[in-house]
Amino acid sequence: MALKFLIPLFFYLFLLLPSTSHGHNITRILAKYPEFSTFNHYLTLTHLAGDINRRLTITVLAVDNAAMSSLLSKKLSTYTIRNVLSLHVLVDYFGAKKLHQISKGSTLTASMFQSTGAAEGTSGYVNITNLKGGKVGFGVVDGDGKLNAHFVKSLKEIPYNISVLQISQVLTSAEAEAPTAGPSELNLTSIMAKQGCKAFADLIKASGAETTFQTNIEAGLTVFCPTDNVVKSFAPQYKHLTASQKVSLLLYHGIPVYQSLQMLKTNNGIMNTLATDNANKYDFTVQTDGEDVTLETKVTTAKITGTVLDQEPLVIYKINKVLLPKELYKAPEAKPPKPSKNNGDDEEEADAPSEQESDDQTADENGAGGLMDGGRLIMIALSLCMGILFM
Ligand SMILES: *[C@@H]1O[C@H](CO)[C@@H](O)[C@H](O)[C@H]1NC(C)=O
Ligand SMILES: *[C@@H]1O[C@H](CO)[C@@H](O)[C@H](O)[C@H]1NC(C)=O
Ligand SMILES: *[C@@H]1O[C@H](CO)[C@@H](O)[C@H](O)[C@H]1NC(C)=O
Ligand SMILES: *[C@@H]1O[C@H](CO)[C@@H](O)[C@H](O)[C@H]1NC(C)=O
Repeated sequence: MALKFLIPLFFYLFLLLPSTSHGHNITRILAKYPEFSTFNHYLTLTHLAGDINRRLTITVLAVDNAAMSSLLSKKLSTYTIRNVLSLHVLVDYFGAKKLHQISKGSTLTASMFQSTGAAEGTSGYVNITNLKGGKVGFGVVDGDGKLNAHFVKSLKEIPYNISVLQISQVLTSAEAEAPTAGPSELNLTSIMAKQGCKAFADLIKASGAETTFQTNIEAGLTVFCPTDNVVKSFAPQYKHLTASQKVSLLLYHGIPVYQSLQMLKTNNGIMNTLATDNANKYDFTVQTDGEDVTLETKVTTAKITGTVLDQEPLVIYKINKVLLPKELYKAPEAKPPKPSKNNGDDEEEADAPSEQESDDQTADENGAGGLMDGGRLIMIALSLCMGILFM
């Protein structure tokens, strides 16, 4: 019946809703406060501002210019300052009220330092503890156990979206301040191995493709790594490739330019890859599908599911399928579309055409926005209906 179909649709659209709204802009939020201008400047310089704006549930622990100047007096490199400041970005929402109501009075929460590739174990976690007299202390878990900073005031709160709080001191740790490798010293395979892409990293090392990836970092490199489960289920097929086909398949997962998520969203179109070599095109098409970015080869369509590292000039994304180039694999024959029975987020095996089959390349950019607005309208109408039905 129609209702059976409408209820899941309603929930689906509901889930989509937050991601269709316009993001916040940390630069603009902080611009109102001249006493945070240094902190704000360094968020931009280290590209953390973009990372903050992309996240939907986030807390920024801002420090004033005086606190920043004590950090700057250490003369750390920009890359290292990025690591220190990424400890100030919590990937959870803490408004002033929630800070004072932490259960059992103390909690550990992950910061963005956790995803820099530099953090080991719990060193990317921040300890928030309610202290005597209503004070709230902050400290880095990796440190000496001291809570060296405390909550000063709330600057901006958009509940469960973004919270910007002032704390008294810079949070730092030996690990965050450790000299950070310049881009050319970043070890691609070990960064990937630490973040759920070990299987793919192992293939890159074993095949000899590592050098090509490494030497491209400095000039800009974007890598799409299929996650461990995806690579594991692809292993039987991979085995049948010759050594040079293996290298081509792996190089097909890198593009020789830095492309932030925002850039990928706006630069839809054909991308050359590290495997592209005159006659062998080895290209794929980047498409934006709502808030998702998909990579379409003629054989398969993969979706970006997360960011392993975004540190210009290198960015590494997780994807949910191995990219199969048409140079190595036959494109599937046109089949009548069949409904997917798999509603989970695990789409590895769904080879059925996506619901957006008739993507019109030219009507793309503006069309997508229009569609989303239409979707939201339907959602609102449906939620009203549902509300009435369930009353
Ligand atoms: C998050 O903040 C942005 C910018 O203020 C706003 O447009 C959006 O609606 C908010 N999202 C939610 C889920 O509140
Ligand atoms: C955020 O705001 C700043 C200052 O108003 C502006 O320069 C910047 O382009 C904005 N960023 C985004 C992603 O809109
Ligand atoms: C946070 O740090 C304080 C002070 O070192 C400590 O007593 C507390 O147990 C820590 N909290 C957690 C959840 O580890
Ligand atoms: C990266 O690190 C791994 C393991 O630590 C090592 O085997 C590999 O040779 C390194 N690669 C480069 C390019 O330094």
